This record gives sequence, C-alpha cells and structure tokens, in this order.
Amino acid sequence: MNACVRAIVQTAAPLGIEVVGIKRGYQGLLEEDFFINTAGKPRLTARRVNGWLTLGGAGLRSSRCDEFLSEGGQIKGAKVLERHKIDAIIPIGGDGTFRGSIALANHWNGQIIGCPGTIDNDLIGTDYTIGFSTAVQTAVDAVDKIRDTADSHDRMFLIEVMGRHSGYIAAYTAIAGGADFCAIPETATEFNSLIPSLCRLKSRGKNSIIMVVSEGDEEGGAEIIRKKLVELGCPYSTRIVILGHLQRGGSPTHEDRRRATQMGAAAVHAIVRGETGKMVGTMNDLCQCVSFEQTIASHREIPDAILQLLNFDADDKIAGL
Ligand code: F6P
Repeated sequence: MNACVRAIVQTAAPLGIEVVGIKRGYQGLLEEDFFINTAGKPRLTARRVNGWLTLGGAGLRSSRCDEFLSEGGQIKGAKVLERHKIDAIIPIGGDGTFRGSIALANHWNGQIIGCPGTIDNDLIGTDYTIGFSTAVQTAVDAVDKIRDTADSHDRMFLIEVMGRHSGYIAAYTAIAGGADFCAIPETATEFNSLIPSLCRLKSRGKNSIIMVVSEGDEEGGAEIIRKKLVELGCPYSTRIVILGHLQRGGSPTHEDRRRATQMGAAAVHAIVRGETGKMVGTMNDLCQCVSFEQTIASHREIPDAILQLLNFDADDKIAGL
C-alpha cells in the first residue's frame, strides 16, 4: 500500500494536484485525521512519501470502521470531504472498502477511484491485488523452513495461511512451496481419499508431509482439519503452524512494488480523465478500470489450471518415490 500511495503522490504533484493523506481509511476521514505538512496544512507531499516504496506496513495506517457502515457515517464523511474541498479520493482496500465507496457516492459528488489492496487476491477485475505477492512469498519462505523439521522429525505439518473466503494464498503457497496437499474453500476437502493417500505414501517410505490449509476452508482451519485427520487414523505424527498476521508484514516483493506503482499512477490518470466509481486493476500487467459493482459482484474464482496443479494424486507421488 505504501508503494501505491507514493505513486499517487508522485504522479499527482507534477500535474499540480495536491494530495491529502487520510489516515486509517474511513475512520480517519470521519475523525479528520490527515497528514499535516510542515506549513501545518493537511497535505501529503512527495518528500513525506520518499522511501515508502520498500516499506512494509501502512504509512497511512489502516482500520475497520463500523460507523461508516451506517448512512449517518457516510453523510458525515461526505461533509468532511466537502469542508476540506477534496475533489476526488483514492481508497485502497478490498470489497468492504469498495462497498463503502459505493455508499459514499450516494451522498458526495466527488470522484472515487479505488486501488485493490488486500492480500486475499479475491477481487474481480484485477489479476493481482496489492499485498498478495508479498503474503505468498512470506508463506512460501515459512513452508521451506518448516519442511526442514518435517523431514528431520518424520512429521506431517498443516500450515494455515490467511484468506478469509478465498484460497488464493493457500493455492499459490502450496504450488510454490511444493506442498503435498492443500485445503481451500473452492474445493471440497475429501478425508475419504486423503487418509488412504497418506497411508500409501507412508507405506512407500515418504517420511514427511506438508499440507497448506486456507483459514477459510469449508472444513475449518488447520486445527480442525488436524483433529479430523487424527480421529480418522492419520499415519503421521502431526503438528500445525498458523502463520496469521506474519503474512501481512515485511518489505514488499518486486511484483507488489511494481503493480502498486502502476495502479497508483493509473488511479490519478483516471481521475484526471474524469472517471469515477471504479477500481483500477491490472490485467496482463496493464491497468484497466472496472466498476466497483463489478469488482464485488461475485467471488473471484481460482482458474482451473491452478486448481489442477493442486490435484495431488498420491499414486503419482508414489511413482516418483
Ligand atoms: O481480508 C484480508 C485479511 O488479511 C484476511 O485474509 C484475514 O482473514 C483478515 O484480513 C484478518 O483481519 P484482521 O486483521 O482484522 O483480523
């Protein structure tokens, strides 16, 4: 997100557009919590965002705002924007953020162009959301390290990754981390075939197993899946690791830095063109605008080609042992 904000400021400045940095999203808007420049004005300057490209966390901070869910909160937000003579806003977030944008547009005439900022990668209209690549890289690094213990101690590890309603992080982590199994909400976790597969692998001499579990899996998270596996006779000694918020920190990958930069710049250009009510996404590495309604209309599916790579077949593995 920092890279995106930096790009917005750097693109706007030469066009003579002044930028206000609203802290903590809609919560900060309601509280008029803005970045203040050296002259005491609510302005976010290029100098202030210098170095943000490589920073983890959120320089603008982040929050979930219950008050903005109500019409009263949205009207209050609109009044703040009018009072500060703000012509356009660029919210960075996921489906909740864009639902807020749609509601705000009912009470405010300014332009709203969003950027997709969620590690879940679950928005329609963009191949990738800001943060996804970094979260997956962090999870893959963790899988690599956990495999050392899995191998040395002859264990099965269930590694839980984020993704409230989406298996994108889990699927990409499983593929890039070379996991043996993966549980995601998009596909049914079949214990009936999982247990015999594990038994066959064990009897053929595979000493360790890595299973990546999405926190949003329909069976539940890693703890619940592990319990079921043990009850059903899992032949391995099992341990769980829940990566949790570890995945939301750290310096961003080159992909996140570049995509965030592209989208932040494209958001400013969309505003200059007079557009509103849209999110800037990237498709095939190029930016495009999609209406907020479209981005949140449905759940973003994981392509079949990716799902097929998760279709781990124990007999295929055994053939390679
Ligand atoms: O929506 C992004 C996300 O990171 C989910 O993957 C995760 O379930 C959730 O946010 C965690 O939210 P919080 O930090 O509020 O617990």
